[in-house]
Amino acid sequence: MMKKILVTGGAGYIGSHTTLLLLQAGFDVLVLDNFCNSKPEALNRVSRLAGRSPHIIEGDIRNYDLLNQLFSDYSIDSVIHFAGLKAVGESVIKPLDYYDNNVLGSLTLLQAMAHANVTNIVFSSSATVYGDPQSVPISEDFPLSATNPYGASKLHIEVMLQDLCRADPNWRIAILRYFNPAGAHESGLIGEDPNGMPNNLMPFIAQVAVGNLKELSIFGNDFDTRDGTGVRDYIHVMDLAEGHLAALIALDHHKLITCNLGTGRGYSVLDMVRAFEVACGKQLPYRIVERRLGDIAESYTDPTHAKAMINWLPRRGLEDICIDHWRWQQMNPNGY
Ligand code: NAD
Ligand code: UFG
Repeated sequence: MMKKILVTGGAGYIGSHTTLLLLQAGFDVLVLDNFCNSKPEALNRVSRLAGRSPHIIEGDIRNYDLLNQLFSDYSIDSVIHFAGLKAVGESVIKPLDYYDNNVLGSLTLLQAMAHANVTNIVFSSSATVYGDPQSVPISEDFPLSATNPYGASKLHIEVMLQDLCRADPNWRIAILRYFNPAGAHESGLIGEDPNGMPNNLMPFIAQVAVGNLKELSIFGNDFDTRDGTGVRDYIHVMDLAEGHLAALIALDHHKLITCNLGTGRGYSVLDMVRAFEVACGKQLPYRIVERRLGDIAESYTDPTHAKAMINWLPRRGLEDICIDHWRWQQMNPNGY
């Protein structure tokens, strides 16, 4: 019998790409999503690409009764837990929403898993748990800190998972700290579809390129970096999706995995603009503006620990990220 995976937030950006890979690898997939930041159409496209469909349940991870029902109706082997809110700026304005959705949501999910004796989970954490790192590249043993409620919610969940692992040897837990996901599936059928004005650099650039937005605002050119603009580790969303399958497999041999998922290369905002210009064949208008509150100068990882722990390395580069992101944006100028 094929293993059945519950994917929370499976209609979202990273969840939809991972669901596709799971289906293609032969897993049965159950998606639980309340569609607060995604559309059901993403999963129609996933089904079209995979030639088979996930089971889709519209519902909330904070609904304990619903989760109990799911775990008793389907024999689930493992959970990949993407569901949560992720907008850093919004989390500062609405902290309780973030603790409710992310912390209480994860707690409720873990309680239902414990009740059903399902004890394998892969969790979406973030490089934001390193706060403002003292140096780069960032490795997993760097000190952790939170500079906003979103980051604090991820830290709380990480601690909860570690405590659980310590308390009960049956649990197998992978904490994956993503750097900056970007790009789209190479078909151009699925990709990132932010609600309203994009917060993140890549979707913003892509919407300038397609003509939905007038110009990019670059948040500061006076950082201590090569060209003064912020440096990040952009990782192709399909590489990230592959990292989740690798982590699932690695949980056969490890009880607790904590891994950074990034490429090990840092690119500045200006590097990203230039690379996207090449991919789309247009000049992209931009303006330098004030720094964004809370932004750090540089963030990129050292991927050697991920290689050792889950036998995974990213395969795609900056050019693939830009070409694939542009294909998705061109084929879907207004998203799904
Ligand atoms: P996304 O918003 O596209 O996907 C999240 C999905 O979860 C959405 O489909 C949303 O509708 C669903 N969801 C949210 N709250 C829910 C709830 N209470 N019950 C059920 N479904 C719910 O975001 P994404 O970029 O795919 O991110 C996935 C995960 O990875 C998140 O936990 C995010 O914090 C984390 N992460 C993302 C990034 C990034 O830059 N994209 C970086 C680091 C970590
Ligand atoms: N940037 C701009 N203009 C924009 C958007 C971004 O100049 O319109 C710059 C930022 O200043 C930064 C870089 O582009 O230097 C990347 O910014 P993003 O918002 O795309 O990504 P961040 O690194 O700020 O944040 C991301 C995720 C967060 C996560 C964090 C750390 O969005 O959820 O990585 O993992 F917390």
